[in-house]
Amino acid sequence: MAGDPKGIQTVLITGASTGLGLAIARDLLAHTQHRLVLTARPSSMGRFEPLGLENGERIWLRPLDVTDADQRDSLVTEIEAAFGAVDVLINNAGLSFRSVVEHVAADELRAQMDVNFLSPMELTRRVLPAMRKQRYGRIITISSVGGMMAMPTMSVYSASKFALEGCCEALWYEVRPWGIHVSLVQPGFIRSDGFTKVHLTRQSQFGADHESDPYHEHYASMGPFIAKTMERTTSSPESVARTVRRTMQEKRPCLRVPATWDARFFAALRRIMPRAIYHRFLYSRLPNIKSWGPGSNQN
Ligand SMILES: NC(=O)c1ccc[n+]([C@@H]2O[C@H](COP(=O)([O-])OP(=O)(O)OC[C@H]3O[C@@H](n4cnc5c(N)ncnc54)[C@H](OP(=O)(O)O)[C@@H]3O)[C@@H](O)[C@H]2O)c1
Repeated sequence: MAGDPKGIQTVLITGASTGLGLAIARDLLAHTQHRLVLTARPSSMGRFEPLGLENGERIWLRPLDVTDADQRDSLVTEIEAAFGAVDVLINNAGLSFRSVVEHVAADELRAQMDVNFLSPMELTRRVLPAMRKQRYGRIITISSVGGMMAMPTMSVYSASKFALEGCCEALWYEVRPWGIHVSLVQPGFIRSDGFTKVHLTRQSQFGADHESDPYHEHYASMGPFIAKTMERTTSSPESVARTVRRTMQEKRPCLRVPATWDARFFAALRRIMPRAIYHRFLYSRLPNIKSWGPGSNQN
């Protein structure tokens, strides 16, 4: 890596058994010499072997539920004992709840924040001391367009990504003196299983299923709209993985790296358009907006 003090580096990737995490792993295997610690939830570890990924000198396969403090600690301890430090942490694991604000219970909000925000930040805190000691490191966190703008029915997902963005922005300043680079890679819609695996909350499931629910039209309109946008996008996990690798290889990577065309479009729109106009513009573009709420004869 240009400008890096180390040749072969140790890269830890969370959620690496599928989707974007797997694409990043494959891209780094093909295009770098780095040592990869590929992690997945214990129940998903069985996916690696059929994919041709096996434990060896260059690849370590390890179980890691990011929400489990003991698993986080023992894995980083093992890596530090073997190689001194995690040189590059890629916080990729994430999940997505689909719900309007009124339909999220406290436990569901906590579950979303735990996987997408609290746990990646805990893992980051765990790897930082050794990175500081060696005066080198990279923290790459997969954010989202949802971390720069919020959409109806994606409130808590956006909350988790906005939180990541705020925390990583502060971290960017804090650890730069030790040669540690912090980046947020922001994909928009990509063709992956991610959005087909959305979690509905107890109440949003009811709202989506029952026409009598005041928010039924919100779900009935947004679900197909998101699915269609994902089908049509030309961005793939592989193209985002290339952006992650380039970010890793940059001597001075940007804090925010929009990784798909729609992410670049919305980042530009937010910069150029005054906020009040921007929100009204987006509101007017929501699918079937006239039929939402009272328009659908609901309360
Ligand atoms: N797909 C998109 O359009 C899109 C857009 C913007 C941002 N993103 C972000 O990209 C990242 C990857 O998403 P993806 O699209 O590749 O979705 P995905 O296919 O659902 O992959 C998510 C990964 O995270 C793992 N994961 C979930 N909970 C975990 C936990 N507690 N501990 C460890 N791993 C856990 C999943 O493991 P299991 O399979 O075991 O559950 C899976 O491997 C996420 O941060 C997501 O927010 C995706």
